[in-house]
Amino acid sequence: MDKKIKVAIAGVGNCTQALVSGIEYYRQNPDDTRGLMNVDIGGYKATDIEIVAAFDINAAKVGKDLSEAIFAEPNRAYKYAGITIKPTGVIVKKGPVYDGNPPFLNEFYTLSDAPACDVAQVLKDSGAEMLMNFIPTESHEAAKFYADVAIKQVKIGFINGMPTLIVSDPEYQKIAVQNGVPLIGDDVKSQFGGTIIHRALATVMNDRGIHLSETYQLNYAGNTDFANLMARGKSKHKTKQEAVTSLMPYPITMSTGFTYVELMKDRKTSIFWINGSNFGNTPLHLEAKLEVEDSANFAGVIADMVRYMRIALDRKVSGVLASACSFLTKHPPVQIPDGEAVLAVKEFVEGKRER
Ligand SMILES: NC(=O)c1ccc[n+]([C@@H]2O[C@H](COP(=O)([O-])OP(=O)(O)OC[C@H]3O[C@@H](n4cnc5c(N)ncnc54)[C@H](O)[C@@H]3O)[C@@H](O)[C@H]2O)c1
Repeated sequence: MDKKIKVAIAGVGNCTQALVSGIEYYRQNPDDTRGLMNVDIGGYKATDIEIVAAFDINAAKVGKDLSEAIFAEPNRAYKYAGITIKPTGVIVKKGPVYDGNPPFLNEFYTLSDAPACDVAQVLKDSGAEMLMNFIPTESHEAAKFYADVAIKQVKIGFINGMPTLIVSDPEYQKIAVQNGVPLIGDDVKSQFGGTIIHRALATVMNDRGIHLSETYQLNYAGNTDFANLMARGKSKHKTKQEAVTSLMPYPITMSTGFTYVELMKDRKTSIFWINGSNFGNTPLHLEAKLEVEDSANFAGVIADMVRYMRIALDRKVSGVLASACSFLTKHPPVQIPDGEAVLAVKEFVEGKRER
């Protein structure tokens, strides 16, 4: 069995920079397992992931080797200590633009004037086993284009890293089963980010009888994802809010906010604010703050997601990979508590459950 897991990526932004250089970090430091959620998943290491095709629309990235494109402006993800990337031989191809280039994002780069490639053909020629969608939030048309190519045309696995509801869509689910395509999505729940912490706080409060009345989560960073989210974050507000409200046994009021603070680059701050009451309906207020490198936090999850998908491909399991979705995405088709999801995904790896 070939241990290499061949993946293609749509969107060579900060998350791709963090993933490609993170895999290289573990390749160059084989004894260093700090920061990995799982060293081994069903016999696969994070370093078994090989990027075989990549698509973007930015002139500074299209036509460049992936090793160069990941460091092109406006990418600004954290640079892992001592890591340089040798040429990979993967040349970034121009994808169709659709709604991936709104005016406020186009201020950060020049749109490539190259003609769009034949994405399906590039995927077939590359031998990609799965396509990962990391394009900007609210680029619904472009996201559906990549989903259609992977799920309906080329029939390879599809990982949806952003909040367009594709894996949660029963129509895509049905076609994926017919075509033997496994799915993971929608929108990544970062390794230790705003969503998982807010869910953990809500869970412990529920367990201890604290009544939550209202809560907000304010996030800010200086990357293009945040510039985009300020202008068009509708689907991200939805996936973030539902990730918390779905855990609650009663309705609560929740707000989410996104702000672009340029000098913070890829360092994201999340502020959690919760009002509630405990014994005798006495008031309680909690505030907490997290600072984290945003894209590395995403990449740590992808390093696992890819391996769960490869296991499904090895076992010829298609459709929604429910346990991986619930464990690792903000908006899985089925929301379950995180403690149950971590057990479910272990059972999936051990072959005790199909998906
Ligand atoms: N922690 C995180 O950073 C995190 C967590 C969860 C989800 N996400 C989601 O992942 C996605 C990627 O985040 P990012 O920080 O890498 O964003 P980014 O803005 O750095 O990168 C997006 C890339 O997609 C490219 N693109 C735009 N339209 C395209 C098209 N039609 N075809 C191909 N490429 C196209 C852009 O040129 C850019 O290189 C976003 O939707 C974000 O919300 C990120």
